[in-house]
Amino acid sequence: DWNSGNVIAEQVAKIRAQVGTGKVICGLSGGVDSAVAAALVHKAIGDQLVCVFVDHGLLREDERRQVEEDYVKATGIRLVTVDVREQFLDALKGVSDPETKRKIIGREFIRTFEQAQAELIEEAKEIDGDPIRFLVQGTLYPDVVESGGGSGTANIKSHHNVGGLPDDLKFELVEPLRTLFKDEVRAIGAELGLPAEIVQRQPFPGPGLGIRIVGSITQERLDLLRKADAIVRFELTAAGLDREIWQCPVVLLADVRSVGVQGDGRTYGHPIVLRPVSSEDAMTADWTRLPYDLLAKISNRITNEVDGVNRVVLDVTSKPPGTIEWE
Ligand code: XMP
Repeated sequence: DWNSGNVIAEQVAKIRAQVGTGKVICGLSGGVDSAVAAALVHKAIGDQLVCVFVDHGLLREDERRQVEEDYVKATGIRLVTVDVREQFLDALKGVSDPETKRKIIGREFIRTFEQAQAELIEEAKEIDGDPIRFLVQGTLYPDVVESGGGSGTANIKSHHNVGGLPDDLKFELVEPLRTLFKDEVRAIGAELGLPAEIVQRQPFPGPGLGIRIVGSITQERLDLLRKADAIVRFELTAAGLDREIWQCPVVLLADVRSVGVQGDGRTYGHPIVLRPVSSEDAMTADWTRLPYDLLAKISNRITNEVDGVNRVVLDVTSKPPGTIEWE
């Protein structure tokens, strides 16, 4: 029967057998799958693994710190953060079409990852002439099934990961989560001592806050949305609803303004949309009936604490016909 300790021991042995003394790279997204996959590989082969974390500026509040500090402290993993916030803002300037945003984000992400990887390979050569041969991926069993069970190729559904990987990435894949379901991955993460914020994290799209701003992306809008999102997450967690809610996108309608009144005067600000959903697998979803008092609290906090927002609205659409995200 299933036991996270056994699975860890089994995977550690498998990883050692596969990579030997080879060097391994892994991109961390801040999500649970890549975090657990990397932690398993690190347990197996230690500093033969290097992780890369791309800060593209579309992350949520505290996410980078959780990876750089909490995760690194818990695992002892070698981590390189690449800060490309400005590069992403430049590339996305003036773009409001959702699919164009996704394409740009995917392209820039791959470019960044490739650059980081090239630098690491150079570095590795200088040290001992041994290039990086393996790439860790947090592929789960449902991903394997959905993509037809093919193995050993770096082919990812573009919807679920930022843009997929380029064809010319000549790595052998290490996929220690290939036989596992999400709840099993979480159990293993907990067993490995990973931070709860990461292990219990709800789904968050690869393109991040970039597809939660309806309209073009600016630094100011990102900061505003990040603040509103942090308030919502804090209050949902405080209300004990993290398990009931599949995820709760918080969306900034940057192209919409409405009139309001606040303090001594008239405001002309943006609405924030709350999109709490309940779901089993994100294929279908229903809007979560949050308690009115909680909605009131969230609405008060956002309008008081987030400059530029004067209205909070609730999305009461199921999927279908709505999607979970607004873009
Ligand atoms: P939708 O909006 O299609 O979302 O109902 C279903 C699930 O997928 C996530 N999602 C994405 N994940 N890249 C991702 O990595 C994307 O471009 C993307 N778009 C949606 C969404 O958060 C939900 O969990």
